Amino acid sequence: MELGLPFETYLEQYQYKYLALYHAIRAAIHSGKLPEGTRLPATRKLAKLYGVSRGSAAQSYDMLMAEGYVVSRPGSGTYVAEGIIRTDQPPIAEQSPILSAWGQRLMSHREEYQEQASTMLLLEQPPPDTISFASARMPIEDFPYTEWRSALSYAGGRGGAGLQSGAPPEGDIELRRAIAGHLRFTRGIPADPEHIVIFSGSMQGLVLLFQLLVDPGDQVIMEDPGYQGIYRGIKLSGGNPLPSPVDDAGLIPHDWEAGLLVVSPSRQYPTGAVLPLERRRALLNWARKRQAFIIEDDYDSEFRWGGKPIEPLKMLDDEGRVIFVGSFSKTMFTGLRIGYAVLPPSLVEAIIQAKALYEPISPAQLEQRALARFIVRGGYGRHLRRMTRLYGNRYETLRQAMDAQASDLFRLHPGDAGLHVYANWLCSPEEYAAFQDAARRRGVMFRDASVYHRTPGPPAACFGFSHLDIAHITEGVNRIAEAWQDMQKS
Ligand SMILES: Cc1ncc(COP(=O)(O)O)c(C=O)c1O
Repeated sequence: MELGLPFETYLEQYQYKYLALYHAIRAAIHSGKLPEGTRLPATRKLAKLYGVSRGSAAQSYDMLMAEGYVVSRPGSGTYVAEGIIRTDQPPIAEQSPILSAWGQRLMSHREEYQEQASTMLLLEQPPPDTISFASARMPIEDFPYTEWRSALSYAGGRGGAGLQSGAPPEGDIELRRAIAGHLRFTRGIPADPEHIVIFSGSMQGLVLLFQLLVDPGDQVIMEDPGYQGIYRGIKLSGGNPLPSPVDDAGLIPHDWEAGLLVVSPSRQYPTGAVLPLERRRALLNWARKRQAFIIEDDYDSEFRWGGKPIEPLKMLDDEGRVIFVGSFSKTMFTGLRIGYAVLPPSLVEAIIQAKALYEPISPAQLEQRALARFIVRGGYGRHLRRMTRLYGNRYETLRQAMDAQASDLFRLHPGDAGLHVYANWLCSPEEYAAFQDAARRRGVMFRDASVYHRTPGPPAACFGFSHLDIAHITEGVNRIAEAWQDMQKS
């Protein structure tokens, strides 16, 4: 039978082919277009009909089967199940709501969200026995549970004064003081707790800043490659993100016609480049000349085992042009959702108003208190030093193994901080595509860095190493070399 599903329409809505097929078939069953007992095409035929892989076709059938829409009769095929309640309307979940212009912008950029979510939430789980360099986070065994538990218990007991009445939108004052002390001591930033605002993850702070500082059509400068969340945040605030090139030394300064720049100078995301002092000064001069603000995204630089200590832009900022944004997602755990900004005094009131709109009472005050205790008692500093040594060793293992076995394939960007390393692919783009498959077959994965590039360029990859021990890193690189050998043979 000819199915005639509006596959393209569903694909536009759901982005993934298997999801589009699943929703299209489900809607056809609901509407009665596919009556009960109908025999559905075999996965091979379905895949051919809609130009999808057989895996996607099979996955859509598996989902329909799990929900009881279809049944499989061994040796005979897949059939629409009996007894499904028909509605001549599409199911409620599939009727399009009428959204505001902002809501429509939001929905039209969900592709960037998929990319962002798949990197943040690790939606793509590696098959068992695969060594995955695709992740870049602290493994659960390395987390300082004992000290963290005691900080939590202190915050919920003796140290919990005021928890009943809640914290103001700018966050618990004890945490703001603790962060100010930590930044003064470790980064040389003369931060005043009154100028620090706590957010539910640094992403919330970034988005509120875009909402406050960007008018529809305004040009906002961001790094290319850079973090997809920033692109999306600017776009959805109505701004016009202008991706600007990054080289081995980070963002290349330019006299942009813009009032806002987002940059990661201490460790460029994702390449890891450290912006030299001349470029930092050039950015500050630009901001002065244009009366612009610079958002310094310091997401990924706390674990620094090599190189000189880096002076944040915020430390050099004597004109109140730099907003320093930090996060505990990498140094503690992503689900903690605690980020912060150190603001120029002129912006403090506006950002508190913006924060108060969404969260008039700051959430997770217990965790904020515990984190303050953990920092002030020195537990956080000890944890950072311990992890820094560990990750420095893991990075060195990866670097040496890649040098010895894969130097014809990848050029690793020099790294002296962070949880992943960025690498340019040295062979052809066609070979890169084939190599990703060959590597998967050998049981090793890495992250394709094209998700970070606004302007398509030569292939690159990110190798996360923090969560793997020395033996797994070594074995993972062996598999990379073997995957390349497999390709040469075939
Ligand atoms: C470069 C960069 N900045 C900011 C963020 C936001 O981090 P969070 O909201 O977890 O603090 C991320 C998250 O992955 C990131 O990669």
